[in-house]
Amino acid sequence: MHITNLIFKNFMGYKQLTLPKKMKQFPKGLILISGKNSYGKSTILEGVLFAFFGSKIFRGRNAASFITYGEEKAELTIYLTIDNIKYNIYRKWGRTGATTTKLFEWVKTSYREIKSFNIENFFEISTEQALNTVFVRQGEVEELANKKGAELREMIIDLFRLNIIDDALAFLDRESKNAKFNKEKLERKRVPLDRIEKDITDVELENVELEKKLTENIRLQKEHEQQISDFPSDDLISKLGGLYDQQKILEENSLAYKNDFQRKIKNTKLNIKDFEPLSKINEKISLLINEENDIKTLKETLDKRREATYKGLGKTKGRIDDSKKKIKKMEESLLFTTNENNAEVAQCPTCQNELTKEHYNEMVDNFNKEIEVSQEKVKSISKIIENLDLDINGKQNKLDYVKKQITVIQGLRNDYQNYQKKALDFNKAKEETNLFLAEHKTKFANTNPANIKTLSIEKKKLSTELTAIIKESKENRRKIEGNLNKIVELRSEVNQMKKLEKEIGEFEIDIDHISKSKELVRRFVTEYMVVKRLVKNIALTTNRYIKDFTSGQYSDLTIDLSGTKKTGLSLKIRDNFNGVLESIEVLSGGDKTALGIALRLAISELMSKIRPTKDSPKKNPKIDILLLDEPLAALDETRRERILKHLIKSKTFSQIFLITHTSIPTDINTHKIIVSKDHTTGISTAVFKRENIAIDSLLTP
Ligand SMILES: Nc1ncnc2c1ncn2[C@@H]1O[C@H](COP(=O)(O)OP(=O)(O)O)[C@@H](O)[C@H]1O
Ligand SMILES: [Mg+2]
Repeated sequence: MHITNLIFKNFMGYKQLTLPKKMKQFPKGLILISGKNSYGKSTILEGVLFAFFGSKIFRGRNAASFITYGEEKAELTIYLTIDNIKYNIYRKWGRTGATTTKLFEWVKTSYREIKSFNIENFFEISTEQALNTVFVRQGEVEELANKKGAELREMIIDLFRLNIIDDALAFLDRESKNAKFNKEKLERKRVPLDRIEKDITDVELENVELEKKLTENIRLQKEHEQQISDFPSDDLISKLGGLYDQQKILEENSLAYKNDFQRKIKNTKLNIKDFEPLSKINEKISLLINEENDIKTLKETLDKRREATYKGLGKTKGRIDDSKKKIKKMEESLLFTTNENNAEVAQCPTCQNELTKEHYNEMVDNFNKEIEVSQEKVKSISKIIENLDLDINGKQNKLDYVKKQITVIQGLRNDYQNYQKKALDFNKAKEETNLFLAEHKTKFANTNPANIKTLSIEKKKLSTELTAIIKESKENRRKIEGNLNKIVELRSEVNQMKKLEKEIGEFEIDIDHISKSKELVRRFVTEYMVVKRLVKNIALTTNRYIKDFTSGQYSDLTIDLSGTKKTGLSLKIRDNFNGVLESIEVLSGGDKTALGIALRLAISELMSKIRPTKDSPKKNPKIDILLLDEPLAALDETRRERILKHLIKSKTFSQIFLITHTSIPTDINTHKIIVSKDHTTGISTAVFKRENIAIDSLLTP
């Protein structure tokens, strides 16, 4: 990685800073930042760190204090290249605290914003680590050179985040807690296998019972179906029922007629035998009719005689009247007068003859005699009529009696005939029923009229039972099916439980592993990493620098970290003039500083390369630049020159920004950022110069 451009706006002393200008880019390698005290050199490195990690990297300073006095907001843009891909990081913030951070990636023709990003993930380095890797603060080198053994030990532990043990342990604790929590969660879900197995056995047993029931259901169903099919059809049953009903009506009818007939015959002198055979009664009726006719004839004769007699009576009575009329006529028409003879005479009106009184009297007497005879005759005729009337009445009575008898007997005969007809009808119906029963003999084996009703009831009962049996079969089948599904479910639950138990087992192993890991971490960090590997590496890496920085006088730095926290580490270095291993306390100030830089560079180099464990993948760190803020201040010119030359040659870091306010040896030709300040406005400015430009001319204020 290396920085190609930077743009500051209202960042501390810089109102507007663009480096390098004119579309140029920073090269790789060493770039010096030079200028006088408080011109704004540190500000440039701080701007880079601020852009990368925000204000949190500067503990105890808030973001607003970085904004140029009198301005409301500041902006930083840093352009960089990582693995040939161009990025830029942009930060904008105001005094109110709102911050915008954006990351852009160059894609083909333009920068595209990477939407959600995390800067620590992007650089693959924590802020804390970055601070100790990338940035060497002003005065830090001297501090490092003068550190006591114990402090140095703590510093190394701090720098290399060996306190990571706590983090690691906390992490492992969390992992262990999670694993325990998950394990408990699973255990709560866990159902003992034998309980599920028992459930399966229970359900299987239930199914055996249900199968038995089902077999019984099927048997009953067949039996019922057979029984129902043995029954006569509904049509036959209703037909037979109809026949029985009809037969019963006819029987009742015939009985009614019979009773009626018997009741009637009781009131007569007749007897049922008189009707059997019917010709008997017919004969009797004929006899009665003959008798009736005889009486009629006799009576007619009498009637005629009576009529004739009556006529004779009339004639006789007429004669009497005639005589009386004649007498009366004579009495009225004859006028008697005394004639010359003194005889009383009258003229006959008819014959005009003279009629004497004597003659007249004689005539009247004759008439009266005649009347008397006729009256006698009337009396005898009347007697005859009276006798005839009696006779006729007697005949009439007899006739009435015979007629009545005929009517009664005829009525009875009618009733008898009806009764016989009804009995016949009844017999016919009986016969019809028997014929029907004979025809359907098998179906109605022991059927009697009383049973016919129960027959259909029984049949209906069987049908109802059959329906119930079929329903039960269905129900049992459904239950069996349900149970089979349940068994499948339970079996899958068994599998799940086995899986669950396996998972629980895995969690247990995890938990065990984690607690072992905790143990290992402790041991690894304290023994292996710190004592053996890390310290040896620091010493080795530092040695590479130290020999060069001290013109070969010192080498073979040994760091012994086996001491306690109190005793710290002991640093010893070989003095090649006398070949003695000396404690560093005896070193001169300049040598100590050189050793400090060597140590610090070694730390930076190792920090970016270090792998947490032997097995961690090797990878090039994203950030392999160095920002050194005045590490050379306390060195004499020779050492400064050596170190600078070393840094110019060094390929360990892609890019090094090194701040110095002291003059640079003239034969050091490197890239520079020259910082200056306008004292009237307090505004800093800076320009970038490539290496081939003469330094001296630029450094003169
Ligand atoms: N918020 C600010 N606005 C303007 N100037 C500031 C602000 N903060 C600090 N400065 C100025 O920046 C200068 C410090 O710059 P610095 O980079 O530390 O100098 P040096 O070149 O010594 O490293 C001081 O002069 C200080 O007044
Ligand atoms: Mg400074």
